[in-house]
Amino acid sequence: MSRTIIRGGLVITATEETEADVLIEDDKIAAIATPALAREWTADAVLDATGRYVIPGGVDAHTHMEMPFGGTYASDTFETGTRAAAWGGTTTIIDFAIQPVGRTLREGVETWHAKADDRCAIDYGFHGILSDVGDGVLKEMDALVGEGITSFKMFMAYPGVFYSDDGQILRAMQRAADNGALIMMHAENGIAIDVLVRQALDAGLTDPKHHGRVRHPLLEAEATHRAIQLSKVAGSPLYVVHVSATESVAEITRARHEGHNVFGETCPQYLFLTVDELDAPGFDGAKYVCSTPLRPVEHQAALWRALRTDDLSVVSTDHCPFCFAGQKDLGRDDFSKIPNGMPGVENRLDLLHDAVVAGRISRRRWVELACTAPARMFGLHPRKGTIAPGSDADVVLYDPDAEQVLSAETHHMNVDYNAYEGRRVIGRARTVLSRGEVIVDDGEYRGRPGRGRFLHRDACGYLT
Ligand code: URP
Ligand code: ZN
Ligand code: ZN
Ligand code: ZN
Repeated sequence: MSRTIIRGGLVITATEETEADVLIEDDKIAAIATPALAREWTADAVLDATGRYVIPGGVDAHTHMEMPFGGTYASDTFETGTRAAAWGGTTTIIDFAIQPVGRTLREGVETWHAKADDRCAIDYGFHGILSDVGDGVLKEMDALVGEGITSFKMFMAYPGVFYSDDGQILRAMQRAADNGALIMMHAENGIAIDVLVRQALDAGLTDPKHHGRVRHPLLEAEATHRAIQLSKVAGSPLYVVHVSATESVAEITRARHEGHNVFGETCPQYLFLTVDELDAPGFDGAKYVCSTPLRPVEHQAALWRALRTDDLSVVSTDHCPFCFAGQKDLGRDDFSKIPNGMPGVENRLDLLHDAVVAGRISRRRWVELACTAPARMFGLHPRKGTIAPGSDADVVLYDPDAEQVLSAETHHMNVDYNAYEGRRVIGRARTVLSRGEVIVDDGEYRGRPGRGRFLHRDACGYLT
């Protein structure tokens, strides 16, 4: 058995902060004790955590490695994307296996296994994306829940691509109420948005900034409201992904106060960037095209407030990178052809830590939003997302004083721009352990493709 001690750090979980030492045996956390008690421990290796926070590895519950979109693929593979995640202190991702339209969900899951297995640097799970709900798919959902794929995303946007109508959504929710799955919703009224897109293009309005205008916040709120009502009728829980608008937060807040199992997620891009980025000179606004879109700055206050009150429970990245050169370019003459998505899997912990420094959230809430809540939400807790005896030894030694400037020059994501280029943040993951193995060692990468394991997830834990 191999034993490692993490000595001298401040251990932070969602509920506690203690000066304590952590004992790791093989791939698990074995014990946490005061330095006085831990003095008796023996080990093969000692990691000095003086001046560091000792936090659980980040859990990013929303990534899209190699995702097909509009004739191209997200530029991070599972190999490059999970390596970048590790650099940023994230040790678990949950990616989305897409049911190809007209094909089975099983085919989507097999395609995703083929992309991810033997390539990931960190542990990974899958959600399913339902793009064609019928009797067969509903049966497949039951089988996949038994295989640890316990959550399924649906789209009220993108008619003709991933779109599901209200009847399909209701049926999938009814099934989820039965089989214990969690439905994740992309809540935007895609039918109305497509009308506004057509009208804009017909009027010759083709620049990236029109992406932000046609995807109106009320069309996010309307879809959020509708998804909530459908989930109430079906008696199933609901998780709304990438919430960006004040009005949508209000819908989620109301449902939660009425006692419904409705949860919301937001992403760093909505907390730190605004719709003004879409108006950047030249075609640079294309870098910031994602859906839901970036919003006017006023929306940020509502998102931060909801993160404090737990009306939004998770911050994940929706990491879906497309290079500016050659990929975002596809929409140079038509904003609706710009591949939707932004990079960020490497930057999430640091951006949120910077919000801790700024006094927006506490250190414990930082850990909860980025590690513990997503692990609980998606059936990985307490294996992931916390530091406790028996948990996987996914641990980050985090330097709360390090200054860094986010930049494409220094990041590890396989994309030719950084959405936060030039932004100075305080904090950085120094040492990262995944199941007891040091994979990032103060500026040196020691991971390898294929060491990450597929995670068979339990039913979604916030609900049980
Ligand atoms: O623009 C985005 N968010 N692209 C990724 C797919 C999705 O809708 O999450
Ligand atoms: Zn989405
Ligand atoms: Zn509330
Ligand atoms: Zn997404």
